[in-house]
Amino acid sequence: MNPQTLLYQITETSQFMMSFVLVTKADNVIVIDGGRAEDMPLLKEYIGGRHISAWILTHAHNDHISGFLAEYHRNGLADFDIEKIYYHFPPYHALKGRTDVPSPSYFDTELEECLADFAAIELALAPLAHKVIQGESVTLDECRIDFIYTYHDGLFSNLMNDASLVFKITAPNKTVLFLGDLGPEGGDVLYEESRHLLKADIVQMAHHGHMNVGLEVYAAIQPEACLWCCPDWLYNEPEIPSYLQNRKALRDIGRTGMYGTAVTRRWMDVLGVKTHYVTKDGTNTLIL
Ligand SMILES: [Fe+2]
Repeated sequence: MNPQTLLYQITETSQFMMSFVLVTKADNVIVIDGGRAEDMPLLKEYIGGRHISAWILTHAHNDHISGFLAEYHRNGLADFDIEKIYYHFPPYHALKGRTDVPSPSYFDTELEECLADFAAIELALAPLAHKVIQGESVTLDECRIDFIYTYHDGLFSNLMNDASLVFKITAPNKTVLFLGDLGPEGGDVLYEESRHLLKADIVQMAHHGHMNVGLEVYAAIQPEACLWCCPDWLYNEPEIPSYLQNRKALRDIGRTGMYGTAVTRRWMDVLGVKTHYVTKDGTNTLIL
């Protein structure tokens, strides 16, 4: 038995990836995303050959799950002892070719980035796969995972980010809310449906801290500490980043309510958050 429940926020080998490993007292592991192929060696170090009770895939973007996909194609995930994979991705075949969306070309790019690959192997993964239902809870050793938000049909301007799983891990001493890469629109839905469920001690900042959910979501969470999956340039980006300077172009593809990391950091100051764990500084270890 381990004396404590530990959460590792793993630092980037590839830029702005997201990867967490939680080790329970019974020495089982919960993996969240994992990053890209380059991030796999460090991920394996932290997993340390332990049994993986749950591998949670938040959403089908390459900075989150392309490492998982690469490992599948390399050797069928043989380096991992996986009990179950949790995910809820948009339905690739039902969405492919749709044109009644804000930007069909962007929509198609989103579908092809990782989801097409995952859809092709989904049948083979079926013995391990668990498609998450919003509202369900899973208990793994001393940790409970409550899944608060999954894919919502119709959020198409920021398809994959707004399909991020949102879930809360309740460990013996701390609660951690994971927001994946949820954007402003997904954040609105999350707030409307589930603001009463959001309070947590620690929050993983949505979409690496920029172009993310709104202040009201973080105000409902009332975190004491924030987890940022950010390289230095992203954590310290300018007040109005270059990608937000053409608001009309963004509005044209249905993207509104987006701000840079500097604004999100100020929100956290307003909320009185004093502790920030940032991947730019290395792998961070939290006792839960
Ligand atoms: Fe991301």
